[in-house]
Amino acid sequence: MMNVGFSLLMIAGLLAVSALQADQTIRQFRYVGLAKNWSDAQTYCRERFSDLASILNAANGTKARQAAGTSQVWIGLFNGTWKWSQDENQFPPSRSGSMFTMWSFNEPQDRKCTLLSKSGYWSAKDCGDLNEFLCYDGSSDSNVLVKQKMSWSDAQAYCRGTHTDLTTIRDVAKSFWMTTLLPDSTFNLQTLSMSPLAVAWIGLHRSDWAWSDGSSASYWPWATQGATEQTDCVTMDFSSGSWFQQSCSDRFSFLCSADVVPSAARALKIRLEAGNADLNDAAVQESILQQLRTKMEEQGVAEEVKLSWRIQPDGKVFHRQQEETAPPACEAEICHSV
Ligand SMILES: *[C@@H]1O[C@H](CO)[C@@H](O)[C@H](O)[C@H]1NC(C)=O
Ligand SMILES: *[C@@H]1O[C@H](CO)[C@@H](O)[C@H](O)[C@H]1NC(C)=O
Ligand SMILES: *[C@@H]1O[C@H](CO)[C@@H](O)[C@H](O)[C@H]1NC(C)=O
Repeated sequence: MMNVGFSLLMIAGLLAVSALQADQTIRQFRYVGLAKNWSDAQTYCRERFSDLASILNAANGTKARQAAGTSQVWIGLFNGTWKWSQDENQFPPSRSGSMFTMWSFNEPQDRKCTLLSKSGYWSAKDCGDLNEFLCYDGSSDSNVLVKQKMSWSDAQAYCRGTHTDLTTIRDVAKSFWMTTLLPDSTFNLQTLSMSPLAVAWIGLHRSDWAWSDGSSASYWPWATQGATEQTDCVTMDFSSGSWFQQSCSDRFSFLCSADVVPSAARALKIRLEAGNADLNDAAVQESILQQLRTKMEEQGVAEEVKLSWRIQPDGKVFHRQQEETAPPACEAEICHSV
């Protein structure tokens, strides 16, 4: 039997409570319990969240361990990548990628800067070695050989200052074409020997340890260094928080980072006893907000939040609700009635 005596005509509206800087996001770690190799994990994180997790300080490390639960997880750190000087600021950096290269047999060894030889093939050398170099000039869309011997980074600075950047080579034809800028070998009749093949720095170089999302790296809680095989990717151990080098093709679950809007942005449903006021009158709504703000000021939280009415699809804020029994006058933390 309906208890008509307690049936109240209620009006409900949604109140949006959001942080003042709602456009600011905060970064959180998300654990993904799927076993994937490092690059597949990176792709997964980039598609669904922001990127693989960057752990930049001890506080990040604590949060990462909490998020990881009881797993050994991939994090976003990897051991360098070959890239062109001209692509340096490309974002996000990628570890894998099918970049064109023309390494000589047995190259690249563990050196980090690239020489083009007259043969058209490339070799990796110490970046501090002094060599002539090829600059690309964007204004004339051409390349020039600079006949001064410099280290790779001085050569890069020279090209960027005088032309555009060190030369980039993206196909076989261009690699061979560039060799025409290098001097020919000469045969010395006195010593009966050929001069060595001419070489020049080009823009390809290998970066050091890097974070997948481009964060700069300086916090290094390594457990052990130096494995025998190529181990260019990194896991974090949940129990110690230490990092371990692993082969990038191994499969682990992983930590992503996600940029989320602060949780203060949410909707509160508030119910008001209608009385005679027209609650869909903007002036009445503003007056209610004003009273709520005053209450929040009393509680010292008004600085951090902004209040606004959530407009429903029909353009109205409030809707009548028939209640069978009397609900509390207010069901949210913020209580008010008119
Ligand atoms: C990691 O630390 C940085 C710098 O303090 C901070 O901006 C970031 O929000 C932290 N990330 C997480 C997931 O806590
Ligand atoms: C990083 O990669 C380079 C090039 O493959 C290698 O020579 C170097 O030893 C690696 N670093 C570590 C710490 O494994
Ligand atoms: C990761 O796994 C994918 C297949 O899921 C494979 O295509 C890729 O080559 C693997 N990458 C590495 C570094 O092992």
